[in-house]
Amino acid sequence: MTTPYSRITGTGSYLPPRRVTNDDLAKELATRGIETSDQWIVERTGIHARHFAAPEVTSSDLGYEAARHALESAGRKASDVDLIIVATSTPDMVFPSSAAILQHKLGIAGCPAFDVQAVCSGFVYALTVADAMIRTGSARCALVVGAEVFSRILDFNDRTTCVLFGDGAGAVVLEASQEPGILASDLHADGKHVGILCVPGHVSGGNVLGTPLLHMDGQAVFKLAVRVLEEAARATLAKAGKTEADIDWLIPHQANIRIMEGTAKKLKLPREKLIVTVNEHGNTSAASIPLALDEAVRSGKVKKGETLMLEGVGGGFTWGAVLLNL
Ligand code: ACO
Repeated sequence: MTTPYSRITGTGSYLPPRRVTNDDLAKELATRGIETSDQWIVERTGIHARHFAAPEVTSSDLGYEAARHALESAGRKASDVDLIIVATSTPDMVFPSSAAILQHKLGIAGCPAFDVQAVCSGFVYALTVADAMIRTGSARCALVVGAEVFSRILDFNDRTTCVLFGDGAGAVVLEASQEPGILASDLHADGKHVGILCVPGHVSGGNVLGTPLLHMDGQAVFKLAVRVLEEAARATLAKAGKTEADIDWLIPHQANIRIMEGTAKKLKLPREKLIVTVNEHGNTSAASIPLALDEAVRSGKVKKGETLMLEGVGGGFTWGAVLLNL
């Protein structure tokens, strides 16, 4: 049976307990002869702290905690779930998917489970796929998770990138609904930009070929991100027959406060409508949007019935937006 809409019925998130401030990181980098400061990081990025997972903790471990909280807030049991999509660029293994591993940790079996790899746009990609599967009758109760352990792929000898990222997970329960939830979405990719943000290493014959650490041209990413985030938001609003004035909250990928404020400004949205967690989480890639959403919901800021614009942008290059009624 098909339903006209899908709607978020619960949110959850999880941060590993180890909180690393800019000063902590600066001290650690100093032992390698690398100089940075709280002032530089805050001024350029808005980041004050991030969380790092313990070495044995995987994306599916973080995703499991976030999923449990999302199910609880939706009033659902794991056995109600009939689709699992995990957005991650730091999966537990080359294969199987972190979604399959998460499914087993949740104590269920049988429903489809797969990962989506679109780096920092992963969550808006995953939400769009889940929405389509629900509206065409392939699922009724989906768990959509963004989970990352980016600390594993950071080059702690490169101060221009290692100060930006953190670990964490966020999740939503998306269910079939007669009432509008997801209103429209707009996804894109352009592989010609692969070189400006990538982890080039890959496994071959039992060895890792190429560097398995994150490489980024920060200024190129910055310029591209602000432009495509504005375009994706406008395209999504047009598809839904809405305008900027209809947006109650903008929840962009939490990459850098300057990119986020630049996007809000281009959309003529007041700063108060921007949800910000990058200050405490750093950039958690595919986890950043559901983490920010869950925090905003749990703090009482974002309320049921309000209209949210979620926006992702990241390696690929990939970008996209989802407009929804909560
Ligand atoms: N501490 C101290 N100094 C630093 C650091 C640091 N951590 N990093 C760089 N610097 C120095 C540089 O060496 C350079 O010094 P120099 O002038 O003596 O050569 C100076 O600061 C300026 O460096 P820039 O790279 O020009 O700094 P910029 O203002 O561009 O800021 C940043 C760098 C923060 C990475 C910025 O380009 C940016 O925000 N880009 C967006 C990238 C992003 O957010 N990516 C996230 C992943 S992608 C995504 O999620 C969309």
